[in-house]
Amino acid sequence: MPLPLDMYQIRGARPLQGIVNISGSKNATLPLMTAALLSDEPSYIENVPNLRDVRAMIKLLQHLGAKVTFNAGTLKIDPRAFNVDSVHYDLMVRMRASFYAMGPMLARLGKAHISMPGGCAIGDRPVDIHLRGFEELGVRHHHRNGYIHAMHNSLVGTRLSLMGPNGTSVGATCNVMMAAVLAKGTTIIDDAAREPEILELANFLNSMGARISGQGTGILKIEGVKKLFGTNWKVCPDRIEAATFAVAALATHGDVTLRGVQRTACASTLFALEQWGAAMDWPEPDVLHITRGKKEKRPLHIVTEPFPGFPTDAQSQLTALLALTPGTSHIRETIYPERFKHVPELNRLGANIRAAEKGKIEISGVPALEGAAVMASDLRAGAALIVAALAAHGTSQVRRIYHVDRGYEMMEEKLRTLGAVIERQKETAEDPGMESLSLSAEEEDVTLGGEAAEG
Ligand code: EPZ
Repeated sequence: MPLPLDMYQIRGARPLQGIVNISGSKNATLPLMTAALLSDEPSYIENVPNLRDVRAMIKLLQHLGAKVTFNAGTLKIDPRAFNVDSVHYDLMVRMRASFYAMGPMLARLGKAHISMPGGCAIGDRPVDIHLRGFEELGVRHHHRNGYIHAMHNSLVGTRLSLMGPNGTSVGATCNVMMAAVLAKGTTIIDDAAREPEILELANFLNSMGARISGQGTGILKIEGVKKLFGTNWKVCPDRIEAATFAVAALATHGDVTLRGVQRTACASTLFALEQWGAAMDWPEPDVLHITRGKKEKRPLHIVTEPFPGFPTDAQSQLTALLALTPGTSHIRETIYPERFKHVPELNRLGANIRAAEKGKIEISGVPALEGAAVMASDLRAGAALIVAALAAHGTSQVRRIYHVDRGYEMMEEKLRTLGAVIERQKETAEDPGMESLSLSAEEEDVTLGGEAAEG
């Protein structure tokens, strides 16, 4: 009998008020953890969020032979016994960022037998750009029974591009960079991702003795070195968690101060919220105070893009806010065109959102949302449903919140500190919407128009 899953029970329509501390970045932490394998000395990483994905990555590093401890937000990674050159399907299924182990395995062990990562709710998640980059460095690989078997005699620097059909690849840029730092000669990566997490990884590797330049410009230059050393590092704050709490403050008519907001990393999200009509001020450099302010709230027309464009990871949360914004908004998703599993769930809460065409939705603002039972399908869809439930009148349940636990540290504690009424419970069949099933006779007549409702 599988364990009952967790859900959030949320009583909405209460403004979030107060101060919230943004945790360390999940998407920066994960590649840093595999990059620590590139040295044969221990590294220490601080401000690491206690997330399901971080715990999964710890298990992966231990599987590979490293010794890892995690106390009070600090990871100690001792890679001296790193010698396992395989990553099994069950580890990969648990978290596709396990694929970041491939670069360090090739760089230090000369081979990698690694499961193809599965797809997920937001798309099929191919790895062809990663493999193309490795091939350019001299790696040969073949696929059998769901595994990639890769090896090389030596990694040799070269000039290569990581452009793909939906733009460049964050993961491939991380992976190929990690292979190139110990290659012979110099590697130039054209069309490299420019996300803040790439800067974080390049600067982390440089603190280990790597020689990387151009991070953030789209063209990375990596001069191979013989050896890397252990390092101490503090992870940057999570720009997507910051976006999530900023949107939640606005959707609930709140007044929230977020500690740990890096303006450049969040620029496109903050610009969109300013266009929407939010009032923002900065009591300190990395501290954002946000309210709805007095300006008229306007619909938005957003296109997600690689950094510095609007981040795909904040798209579903913004959709929840636009669902309550007068007028008609549009979101075009160019990174993961199927990343709309949150839409039918938001519509269960009373939103009015429809697919305009492939990869694009049209959002007609409604005056209010109403509590209901909804289900998370992935990490950011879950975050969007939490935002909507916090704004909705009445009680909502957000089910399958193990998705949310992957990327949000202490979500219910942080929200309760801001005044939310939110409880983590085991999923039950009770559904807050059930009350409406006992319609009175006259309601029945009006609602169903006296005829049988649509099947
Ligand atoms: C990273 O995923 C993030 N994950 C994602 O965040 C984020 O949505 C994504 O970058 C885009 O910003 C982590 O950092 C752990 P990509 P990644 O390779 O590296 C296609 C979250 O919610 N592509 O930049 O896997 C791909 O299908 C997660 O925190 C190829 O075609 O993303 C997509 O359309 C979700 N071939 C586009 O490129 C490849 O070999 C961008 O993907 C690789 C990717």
